[in-house]
Amino acid sequence: MEQYIIKGGNQLNGEVEIGGAKNAALAILAASIMTDETVTIENLPNVRDINVMLQAIEEIGAMVDRIDDHTVKINGSYIRDVVVDNEFIRRIRASYYLIGALLGKYKKAEVALPGGCDIGSRPIDLHIKGFRAMGAKVDIAHGLVAAEASELVGTHIYLDKVSVGATINIMMAAAMAQGKTVIENAAKEPHVVDVANFLNSMGANIRGAGTDVIRIVGVEKLHKTEYSVIPDQIEAGTFMFAVAATGGDVLVKDVIPKHLEATTAKLLEAGCKVEEFDDAVRIISNGKLHHTQVTTLPYPGFPTDMQPQMAVLLGLAEGTSTVTESIFENRFKYVDELTRMGADIKVESNIAIINGVQRYTGARVNAPDLRAGAALVIAGLVAEGITVIDDIYYIERGYERFEQKLSGIGARIEKVSDEKEIQKFILKVS
Ligand code: EPZ
Repeated sequence: MEQYIIKGGNQLNGEVEIGGAKNAALAILAASIMTDETVTIENLPNVRDINVMLQAIEEIGAMVDRIDDHTVKINGSYIRDVVVDNEFIRRIRASYYLIGALLGKYKKAEVALPGGCDIGSRPIDLHIKGFRAMGAKVDIAHGLVAAEASELVGTHIYLDKVSVGATINIMMAAAMAQGKTVIENAAKEPHVVDVANFLNSMGANIRGAGTDVIRIVGVEKLHKTEYSVIPDQIEAGTFMFAVAATGGDVLVKDVIPKHLEATTAKLLEAGCKVEEFDDAVRIISNGKLHHTQVTTLPYPGFPTDMQPQMAVLLGLAEGTSTVTESIFENRFKYVDELTRMGADIKVESNIAIINGVQRYTGARVNAPDLRAGAALVIAGLVAEGITVIDDIYYIERGYERFEQKLSGIGARIEKVSDEKEIQKFILKVS
């Protein structure tokens, strides 16, 4: 089992490049099997969840040709099986996108029920409601979601709750349904727009993505395309928060600043300086942070995927801050770990009440999930002494070369795999 080991206290300075958006790419990879022609996808992040998705589509027969770390060619004409079930796919949440993609194209899909980070109960009732409204029969049995339709017919679907996954999944199936589908109360996240743009580049007819009403007119066939995934707003935000916490001056490159507006607004409130360029943001921090209040909301609100990183930052801000989690009920699992590093945080229901402390101190902690793990890395970067983070498997689901990118801007962080390497690092930095 690998760990990160960090010697805290270094300011971060320089430039860092952000990769493609994991959550957009996962849906785009699933959608790429909806044509029989070859699709080329660029700016793919080279992270664990993406590799699991690629393996899953390869296992059902798609031709997957990895051109380089960030580019893949996919041909879905060889698909021989609509049953997707293996040990790995069961661990990723985005497996559900294969239901929409296969149902849209073949009118039949059987996919293992999604796993993913344990951040709360994660139902897929809205996905199922959408498929059923289009005429599919959907059952859950033996750990699989089985969906089948003699024909999929466009319809009006109102999502009771704003859901990224349900919006994208229904959009994919509707792209190849008969007639017009309207999704109301749709999610507006940048990756919803990116998946719609990708499907449109294959010949789909989707309008309104990025607003809360999406209109889709189904087409019979989709065709080849070459497409580049948008930058990862959460990876970018994570680096911005790391700089805010440690102090320093970093240019975060290859981003769409508009997608980072909620993150940037909170950094300004916390006392940092942020400059926006066409495809970069510069963050400057003296490490002195003000308290503030944050509530996670669907886009364009403050993203739940930045909530743990925000709490780590506010743990060092003068005064009392609050962080309210309104999307997932179990996203405060890092609080006990952060408390062991000296934070003063009390969780009441879905609100974390944070009394800022002067400093964190290094400790051995566990990454409880992807974003919480990244947040603990930030805590380690700013803490006094040495921090060891176990279970970095979670972090590697969504961050590519995380330790290398951080080292590139001045952090002392290494990936190690045993006690001997931990001792070697400690000797080196002391
Ligand atoms: C996506 O999850 C992301 N995952 C999550 O990123 C992200 O936290 C989340 O959107 C919110 O932005 C992927 O894209 C693979 P939702 P998703 O459907 O689609 C409820 C990360 O760290 N809901 O928007 O599963 C649900 O319980 C991960 O990268 C239903 O009630 O999230 C939640 O309260 C973690 N029924 C809310 O909607 C449903 O059928 C929003 O969930 C679906 C969702």
